[in-house]
Amino acid sequence: MNKVTMFSTYEKLSKYVANIVEEQLKENRISRFILPTGSTPRSMYKEVVNRDLDWSHAVTFNLDVYLMNINHPQSYQTFMKENLFNRINIYPDNCNFPFRPTSAFEDKISENKGIDLCILGIGSNGHIAFNEPGSAFDSRTRVVDLDQQTIEDNSRFFDSVDDVPKQAITMGLGTIMESKKIVLMANGKHKLNILNVAMNGEVTESVPASILQNHDNVEVFYCD
Ligand code: GLP
Repeated sequence: MNKVTMFSTYEKLSKYVANIVEEQLKENRISRFILPTGSTPRSMYKEVVNRDLDWSHAVTFNLDVYLMNINHPQSYQTFMKENLFNRINIYPDNCNFPFRPTSAFEDKISENKGIDLCILGIGSNGHIAFNEPGSAFDSRTRVVDLDQQTIEDNSRFFDSVDDVPKQAITMGLGTIMESKKIVLMANGKHKLNILNVAMNGEVTESVPASILQNHDNVEVFYCD
């Protein structure tokens, strides 16, 4: 597959991406990151927290949040606290999540002089962050309705499909593409087809992740 590095195990993939995070922080301790949630990055975060890294000058921006109570066990704010922020020496004020007005969130990214490293997952319908199929390639941070497919996919984290939030705030594809370097992680055979379509097929707004073909510093990692 074009531009995709395959790993034999999820553990190896997670360690490799953790190495990229470590290198970025060691090269520049005031690095700016865009960070993902979902099941895929869990082990990468586990690996990262076990390394002796100095996050005291780093600034992070999360890709997306559900529109829901931020203290809910399945909110992305809770996920990030449990998997990363409560386990490293980052300042809470330096951990940013998309908020309204979304233009102010965009301004905050710009004030921080842009993003050094953006880490992404991919949804089964080709979404990145919560940019669902049909999202404009020049989209910015905004409130979105979730696709039925995404609601069903993410229902595994909730008691029932009815409990999954129907809306989110997501960074736009245009916002993500301004990152200096982008890494995409995909884990599992069920992601192989959409990854192939996204990385080798037509660059089209029907497959949001296909925009990555237009970025000159992107690495895509897969394991089944
Ligand atoms: C959610 C997130 C995406 C993530 C995707 C894949 O919808 N908003 O940012 O990439 O899930 O999740 P998983 O890694 O659990 O397959």
